[in-house]
Amino acid sequence: MNKPVISDNSPIKVTLGKDKKYFFCACGRSGNQPFCDGSHKETDFEPVKYVAEEKVMVAFCGCKQSKHPPYCDDTHIAIVEEPKEGDDPFESGERII
Ligand code: FES
Repeated sequence: MNKPVISDNSPIKVTLGKDKKYFFCACGRSGNQPFCDGSHKETDFEPVKYVAEEKVMVAFCGCKQSKHPPYCDDTHIAIVEEPKEGDDPFESGERII
């Protein structure tokens, strides 16, 4: 199974309209976070359907690791991102001791 892409290391707060249907991006590849834009098609992920029963502000998961999607459950706090290629911790000239 593919791993989801971490689209954000914090929750994504959105206001949703009453009786509107939304599709939460579970794969992290959407360019329209936190909503699905169809980019999951080549993955094993499916969007999570969400119907707002009233106008509401919610905190959707940005790291895509939540155990209760689409909601943020603070899992992002424990995520340590691997350094990306080209990341140089000494680039700033700071000394790490
Ligand atoms: S684009 Fe991520 S689930 Fe559809």
